[in-house]
Amino acid sequence: MSETFDLLIRNGIAATPNGIAEADIGVRGGRIAAIGALGSAKAVETIDAKGLHVLPGIIDTQVHFREPGNEHKEDLETGSRAAVLGGVTAVFEMPNTNPPTTTRAAIEDKLARAKNRMHCDYAFYVGATPANAGALGELERLPGVCGVKAFLGSSTGTLLLSHPHDILTALKSGTRRMSVHSEDEDRLNARKDLRVTGDPRSHPLWRDVETARASTERVLNLAREAGRRLHVLHVTTEEELPLLAAARDYATVETTPQHLTLAAPECYERLGTYAQMNPPIRESRHREALWKAVNEGLVDVIGSDHAPHTRGEKDKTYPDTPSGMPGVQTLATILLDHVNAGRMSLERFVDLTSAGAARLFGIAGKGRIALGFDADFTVVDLKKKRRIENSWIASRCGWTPFDGMETTGWPVMTIIRGRTVMRDHALTAAGQGEAMRFIETLQPSP
Ligand code: DOR
Repeated sequence: MSETFDLLIRNGIAATPNGIAEADIGVRGGRIAAIGALGSAKAVETIDAKGLHVLPGIIDTQVHFREPGNEHKEDLETGSRAAVLGGVTAVFEMPNTNPPTTTRAAIEDKLARAKNRMHCDYAFYVGATPANAGALGELERLPGVCGVKAFLGSSTGTLLLSHPHDILTALKSGTRRMSVHSEDEDRLNARKDLRVTGDPRSHPLWRDVETARASTERVLNLAREAGRRLHVLHVTTEEELPLLAAARDYATVETTPQHLTLAAPECYERLGTYAQMNPPIRESRHREALWKAVNEGLVDVIGSDHAPHTRGEKDKTYPDTPSGMPGVQTLATILLDHVNAGRMSLERFVDLTSAGAARLFGIAGKGRIALGFDADFTVVDLKKKRRIENSWIASRCGWTPFDGMETTGWPVMTIIRGRTVMRDHALTAAGQGEAMRFIETLQPSP
């Protein structure tokens, strides 16, 4: 008797634990139920993926969706709409909202807002502060929480955990991998005068290499002292890489598509404050060092650091302009373009955008195309050429630093737990995103 599935993806080139090769995939109840040659199988819905690559759903582990408090920039609906249009099936959302996500009530509020509104699956970060540092061990275990995020230097919003004593308290108060924005607050304050009014090229001079290096060195030492796993978000300097390479037993590394694609001073000359972010885009020697780190396996994940601000805010005069740029919708095509240009393999892309996230954070049932895993797929046309345009951007900010760039390699379908939510760059179903579960904090079934 032939098998019956809810969904059958036929003839695609699938990235499975066996490698990248032609395989049909059968889905039942939102999970992967069969992989292989499923010639005689029947299904309620069949997708012919001939000529397309079927990749594990992309998990973007760093997005700022601004809700609550800054919905004029983005909200959970618009941000997650941008995510699925860009091939992203799940996101970790950042805590620098207003109010910041630092309490149980704030987490529960975000989870309530996300329900039936987010188009992709989600988890939320808890923000670390001197006031809640001792309570983070409890907060990080709440359902729907991916972990703790600490801003060691100030950026957008009010969150800050800069004193070594407080950082150590936070590191000692919990066991999950803790994520950090690593810039040294004292050095940032001491160098504020280096900002040149009207000239965003001074942004990476103010927030210089040493600001990042010194902070990363210190937090690595503190994490070792605390015996705590650490994740260093958006690493941007060549100088941090040997420190991180010496800490592979407990520290992991993220970089972003923009730091792998743009470089100073050209990006500031062309994009002005639209290229301003923290930590900054730096000269090309850092970009080349990050590529080497990607290919040597030092980088574990690529997150977009999707951080939208409105044009009105970005059009003010530097340094009165906010730092950050959108990226969740462009992450896949920017990186696939790099794959096509030979800068990394497709296998590496898969690891950096799905398996890596699952491995680092222990996401239950996601991150690979394997039997029993969630049926999350980013279906990709590796040869498709298309121009990235502001008009395509679903984020409320309505712009992208990559406007006008033609890229090769595009997500053409986003499938979440067996439901096709994006096809040919259009939404095909309303949001039914769910909170992700984590193996370290699994709840007893009700
Ligand atoms: O450039 C940035 N923007 N870096 C951050 O750390 C925060 C982000 C934002 O939320 O705007």
